[in-house]
Amino acid sequence: MSNKSRKDHYYKKAKKEGYRSRASYKLQQIQRRFEVIHEDDVVVDLGAAPGGWLQIIKDLNATAIGVDIQQIAPIEGITLIKGDITEPGTTEKIQNVARKVDVVISDAAPNLSGVWSVDHARSIELSTSALNIAKQILKPGGALIVKVFQGDLFDEFLKMVRENFSFVKAFNPEASRKQSAEIYIIGKKFLKVPVNLNAVYEVQIETIGEAGDGIAKINDFIIIVPDTKKGEVVTVKVTDIKPTFAFGKRIS
Ligand SMILES: C[S@@+](CC[C@H](N)C(=O)[O-])C[C@H]1O[C@@H](n2cnc3c(N)ncnc32)[C@H](O)[C@@H]1O
Repeated sequence: MSNKSRKDHYYKKAKKEGYRSRASYKLQQIQRRFEVIHEDDVVVDLGAAPGGWLQIIKDLNATAIGVDIQQIAPIEGITLIKGDITEPGTTEKIQNVARKVDVVISDAAPNLSGVWSVDHARSIELSTSALNIAKQILKPGGALIVKVFQGDLFDEFLKMVRENFSFVKAFNPEASRKQSAEIYIIGKKFLKVPVNLNAVYEVQIETIGEAGDGIAKINDFIIIVPDTKKGEVVTVKVTDIKPTFAFGKRIS
């Protein structure tokens, strides 16, 4: 399909099927491939106007909260927040209506200036804001979908997502325009952990697990430390982080 006919195809399809934007099909295609959203999930949609993605979330029987600097026309059962995702106060507004968030999705995009380096940098700013909001509101094991315009800063952004999710993939849905430089990053299994990889901590071994390894806790988060005894206070270096526990190597 040529670029123009693809655009027309999804535009007409959205009109016919009652979706507010052809962006709906991008989310549908991401969902078909990665199954990010599940029934009864709480999903926060950043940069949600005019609401095409919100309609898809509703179709999936999940609860949606839509955020945009622009007004979004009401959709039954969906909470809408007017706010700028680059402003810290917006996270608070979201937290006031959603306590347990399973998925954060962001299709936020800047108004295009036509100067690629400028548009790319603004897109990265929005994507980074979306990631930061996700880090504050997502439950452990939660998921993220975020749009980014490709360019020099893309790899650095991807690295930040990788540091926070144990499954990360970049995906270009068929409904995106072919020469468009937008790409979606999908992150699953949010690592909401109070420790950092390779960081060093002093911990007390509280108990010995079934496999014979010591188990310590940092803010209720489990660190498994081989070659230790119950009651010992040891210095450990974090060698691997899973969504609900980490492995530590005893260094003293
Ligand atoms: C491509 S549209 C989103 C389309 C939407 N996913 C849909 O399916 O209808 C991008 C949106 O990002 C919003 N946006 C841009 N900068 C923003 C910001 N700083 N805070 C909140 N929303 C922003 C724009 O207002 C615009 O509505």
